[in-house]
Amino acid sequence: MAYTLDIFRYDQATDEVPHRDRVEITDLPDTVTVLDALEHAKAEIDGSISFRRSCRSAICGSCSMNINGTTGLACKTPVKSVLKADRSVQVDPMPNFQPMKDLVVHMDPFWDKYTRLKPYLQPADRDEDHERERRVSPEDMHKLVAVANCVMCATCYALCPVVSVDPSFAGPAAIAYAYRFIEDVRDSKRKERAAQISDDYLWLCAHCYACSYCPKHVDPHDDIIAVKRATIEEGLTDAPGPRHALVVAKTVKQTGMLHETEVIQGTVGRFNIVGLFKTAPFGMRLALAGKMPPLFLKPVPKVDEIRTIFDTLEAPTL
Ligand code: SF4
Ligand code: SF4
Ligand code: FES
Repeated sequence: MAYTLDIFRYDQATDEVPHRDRVEITDLPDTVTVLDALEHAKAEIDGSISFRRSCRSAICGSCSMNINGTTGLACKTPVKSVLKADRSVQVDPMPNFQPMKDLVVHMDPFWDKYTRLKPYLQPADRDEDHERERRVSPEDMHKLVAVANCVMCATCYALCPVVSVDPSFAGPAAIAYAYRFIEDVRDSKRKERAAQISDDYLWLCAHCYACSYCPKHVDPHDDIIAVKRATIEEGLTDAPGPRHALVVAKTVKQTGMLHETEVIQGTVGRFNIVGLFKTAPFGMRLALAGKMPPLFLKPVPKVDEIRTIFDTLEAPTL
């Protein structure tokens, strides 16, 4: 099978701007992965092509890169599954990271956020106080199985649109790891962990589901929802993010609809006079455009059925 690897090339030590190289691959079977093709190009054609890899088995998480515009593990992506109509495969460094050399990126922002979590168990007592290991029930362990599969490949971080506009956002993998310890019955720092990840802009997550594409099926988005719920359960609600979530839930439960006027007040804070004052120009613009939402909302017919959904889910509201 013949095709072209269209490779992003850049060396931070020597290049002012990146360029692209097109490398023809002619003598590999059609079963190979994108990583196999890159290895072949490096071994046989241009030894300076740089990329990370180790296990070649979707275990180590090091070969994440952008392949034809979407991020994934090169060792898990068959070439024939991504060949474009012109029989080329475009490979680029992961977005949301600074390129270092070719497909190798600076991972520091990703690891910094992970390190801030203190990603190790912090039990209330000492190991020496136990005659045997701390046991976890199958039910409690089941909650942690998916996130335990995370290989820290950073694919989800590269795909997250919030990271691209606000690099201070913790990102999906770090929040998933916060969940891993928040939900571990052996850990004693649930509230501290929830507070720390909340401070790291947990509530900026836009629930776009982009991070649900995870090569190890961790699906950090489910964990993000669980961590938000944990911060509310721990009483960490004095911030715009949790206030917004709670007031949205409250108005939908009460009326069956989003009561926008109340949502703005509830998010800013009813007694936050300065904050409410700042929303006045926005209100004026809405009024002038004839789009001012009503001050009072009549509940929709059968609103009791909506309230039953909230009660069944035990959803927290204001
Ligand atoms: S959650 Fe998935 S995509 Fe994100 S770092 Fe872990 S394995 Fe990679
Ligand atoms: S769901 Fe949240 S964390 Fe995941 S990609 Fe979207 S904004 Fe980022
Ligand atoms: S080389 Fe290890 S995950 Fe791809």
